[in-house]
Amino acid sequence: MKELIEKAEVLQEALPYIRRFRGSRFVIKYGGHAMVDADLKRSFARDVALLRYVGLSPVVVHGGGPQIGEMLDRLGIQTRFVDGQRVTDEETMRVVEMVLGGGVNQELVGLICEHGGRAVGLSGQDDRFIVARRVEAAVDLGRVGEPTEVRPDVIERLLAGDFLPVIAPIGVDADGGPLNINADTVASKVAQALRAEKLILMTDTAGVRAADGRLLGSLDTARAQALIADGTISGGMIPKVRFALDAVANGVGKVHIVDGRTRHAVLLEIFTDQGIGTEVVE
Ligand SMILES: Nc1ncnc2c1ncn2[C@@H]1O[C@H](COP(=O)(O)OP(=O)(O)O)[C@@H](O)[C@H]1O
Ligand SMILES: [Mg+2]
Repeated sequence: MKELIEKAEVLQEALPYIRRFRGSRFVIKYGGHAMVDADLKRSFARDVALLRYVGLSPVVVHGGGPQIGEMLDRLGIQTRFVDGQRVTDEETMRVVEMVLGGGVNQELVGLICEHGGRAVGLSGQDDRFIVARRVEAAVDLGRVGEPTEVRPDVIERLLAGDFLPVIAPIGVDADGGPLNINADTVASKVAQALRAEKLILMTDTAGVRAADGRLLGSLDTARAQALIADGTISGGMIPKVRFALDAVANGVGKVHIVDGRTRHAVLLEIFTDQGIGTEVVE
């Protein structure tokens, strides 16, 4: 009996958050380990379906680096990375589109729908809603892009229709050609275009760590710049932190970098007081 009462109390504790966040947009970047572990995958899909059922408006943006790498290996296509970005020639881009848009996206849509989530998958090609340009770098990165504009119309309509958008991070250039974009960047720009209450970036580590390995509960622009400059923040954490800051500077209420290896990380972040991971502030 005691256990049952405790369960009921957990529900009660969520009430103020459910009231406060009713109708609010939550953009969730789904990536890292949570994408490859079958149990965590299912648990994530259930969690986002639950968010929708309690009246929030979740929008998911997913990554897929490991899945793309695996397919390229199987096809015997060589790729290389420059500054953490995959050099994307035309052939590689076709694989990226296939794996992200066809594979990863539809699998996630299927799992969310299994729990009644009414998920609809799309990429920036749909209605050309993610406009992008090629990233300029010292070496030619090929079809690697950065978003220049997110036109939220199609997402707004899906949300108005009570659907749950699941977005693959592919943009279109001025000629209508596809561009491969970092998913954190897309999630940040989508959150800005939707004026989201919160942007949650799930990753495969506890949050942002200081040079001594300590987890930073909070991170502001000045500290982030210093940590990037001295190399403490490196690799994939750089775009994550940069675009988290970009989001808070441009109308997104809060941004959190959380550990996707923790079961129910998204629910814990939204419905409890103990913030988890790293909160990014201006
Ligand atoms: N200061 C830091 N704190 C935490 N992680 C860091 C830091 N600097 C670099 N990283 C690396 O960034 C990685 C997360 O980025 P990334 O590999 O792109 O994963 P994701 O799939 O979540 O985008 C971490 O696993 C870690 O190896
Ligand atoms: Mg990354």
